[in-house]
Amino acid sequence: MDLGIAGRTALVCGASKGLGRGCADALAAEGVRLVIVARQQDALERAADEIRTRTGAHVQAVACDITTVDGRALALAACPNPDILITNAGGPPPGDFRDFSRDDWIAALDANMLTPIELMRQAVDGMIARRFGRIVNITSSAVKAPLDILALSNGARSGLTGFVAGLARKVAAHNVTVNNLLPGAFDTDRLMSTIKSGAAAQGISVDAARERRLHGVPAGRFGTPAEFGAACAFLCGAQAGYITGQNLLIDGGAYPGTF
Ligand SMILES: NC(=O)c1ccc[n+]([C@@H]2O[C@H](COP(=O)([O-])OP(=O)(O)OC[C@H]3O[C@@H](n4cnc5c(N)ncnc54)[C@H](OP(=O)(O)O)[C@@H]3O)[C@@H](O)[C@H]2O)c1
Repeated sequence: MDLGIAGRTALVCGASKGLGRGCADALAAEGVRLVIVARQQDALERAADEIRTRTGAHVQAVACDITTVDGRALALAACPNPDILITNAGGPPPGDFRDFSRDDWIAALDANMLTPIELMRQAVDGMIARRFGRIVNITSSAVKAPLDILALSNGARSGLTGFVAGLARKVAAHNVTVNNLLPGAFDTDRLMSTIKSGAAAQGISVDAARERRLHGVPAGRFGTPAEFGAACAFLCGAQAGYITGQNLLIDGGAYPGTF
């Protein structure tokens, strides 16, 4: 299926590996011109090279911390008029909410709520003017089914979700859509570090913690970044213009509810 976005420009945050990388790969395969962002320059440059080699797409790598004012300025200087914006950054650390300080909360809000909002603020008017925009925020299944050890994530991402619900309706008439993708368990470094800290907290081996996590996934496996990227690319496609303000859970059936 041709998604009708060849030649469009995308800013993809948190894209050197994991879910952001999956999104970058899928958009590049559609002929989208990419600016990809992550903090560690070497890994980011390697990712850019691999994407170029595999897809022939134009890929620019901008090494910066997207959760800072300076980092966002660098990213948007390289990509001042994105048609497609994928917001993403590392998730906040797990832990008992009693141990989190005000600074921990502010850092989580900055990274997982205010950074995406600021990127959307800077990108959305250009999208409206060009009458095409696709914004996808990578959030978490924790928005729908909170995990007690991820209090920082549950809180910050729920704030973002509420904001997006309002923004999506305000810009829909201009062919600008705003949706959130909610990953369940995907096979990435982030998942492995969550499993490791879970193992330590429960006093069990990493393998046992991994099995426990898998046990809760009806699909019987973790998701792949490529699967995640394919869903993201579809939401960014020309055909997805009538899908907005949605929270799409991608979790192999782990969420047990009817809706
Ligand atoms: N994987 C899962 O199962 C899962 C489930 C639920 C939610 N999530 C959420 O989905 C998001 C992506 O997770 P992932 O599994 O893909 O993580 P990952 O494999 O650790 O990859 C994170 C990517 O983001 C970059 N990044 C992190 N912090 C950044 C920052 N401040 N500025 C710019 N780039 C940054 C990383 O590169 P650098 O370190 O070089 O910056 C890397 O490219 C996270 O917010 C995570 O909490 C993941």
